[in-house]
Amino acid sequence: MKIIVIGASGLIGSAIVSALTPRHEVIAASRKSATHPVDITDKASIAKLFAGLGTFDAVISAAGGAAYRPLADLTDADFAMSLGYKLMGQVNLARLAVGHLSDGGSITLTTGVYAKEPPPNAAAIAMVNSGVNGYVIGAAGELPRGIRINAVSPPLVGPFRLNAAASRVECMTPEDVALAYVEAVEGRSTGRVIDTRSYARRT
Ligand SMILES: NC(=O)c1ccc[n+]([C@@H]2O[C@H](COP(=O)([O-])OP(=O)(O)OC[C@H]3O[C@@H](n4cnc5c(N)ncnc54)[C@H](OP(=O)(O)O)[C@@H]3O)[C@@H](O)[C@H]2O)c1
Repeated sequence: MKIIVIGASGLIGSAIVSALTPRHEVIAASRKSATHPVDITDKASIAKLFAGLGTFDAVISAAGGAAYRPLADLTDADFAMSLGYKLMGQVNLARLAVGHLSDGGSITLTTGVYAKEPPPNAAAIAMVNSGVNGYVIGAAGELPRGIRINAVSPPLVGPFRLNAAASRVECMTPEDVALAYVEAVEGRSTGRVIDTRSYARRT
């Protein structure tokens, strides 16, 4: 498959690229990419990237940010940035990808477990993650030509694996998180929010 990974240079994105590269043609994009620059907060930038790539079979977004601040300190600008970046940045990516995806192609966005399990200071993150989840669930049944859409929902991602003694994954490696993106692209599901904690390898 020809797969576009946006956010390919990041912690999660680079693990996705490593997981998919052996079996697929992977095109790595991000703002600072020398070959495939794109800014998901700018629709014209997304359209320009896709126009130069022809038809592709899958697009993955591992990009997007939101304000991480105490509730009382969140400003109008924080909300606008969060909505325009992780939520509408990815939604616009999905909307613009449809015209370039092959029949049966797939869109995979990134959300996060903070949608339902936010720590302090994560109200804006919870808000946009829930928006991504809602878009994926709502859009899945209306996409044309068998195009699928899913969201991958990681917890905190870092270099540590779950300790066998622990009862719950608090932090996952990017490599384990990437397995959920592989399933979203290579599997058949649509309209799913995939909680990556089911992929955690316990050490
Ligand atoms: N890390 C975690 O613990 C964690 C947990 C749950 C969910 N997530 C979510 O997973 C996603 C990736 O997180 P990460 O930790 O891998 O982030 P990261 O290491 O900061 O990487 C972000 C990637 O996205 C690209 N990027 C950033 N803004 C962009 C934009 N406006 N347009 C296009 N590309 C952009 C960056 O490259 P350039 O700078 O070149 O653009 C980079 O490749 C985010 O949506 C994040 O909310 C992360």
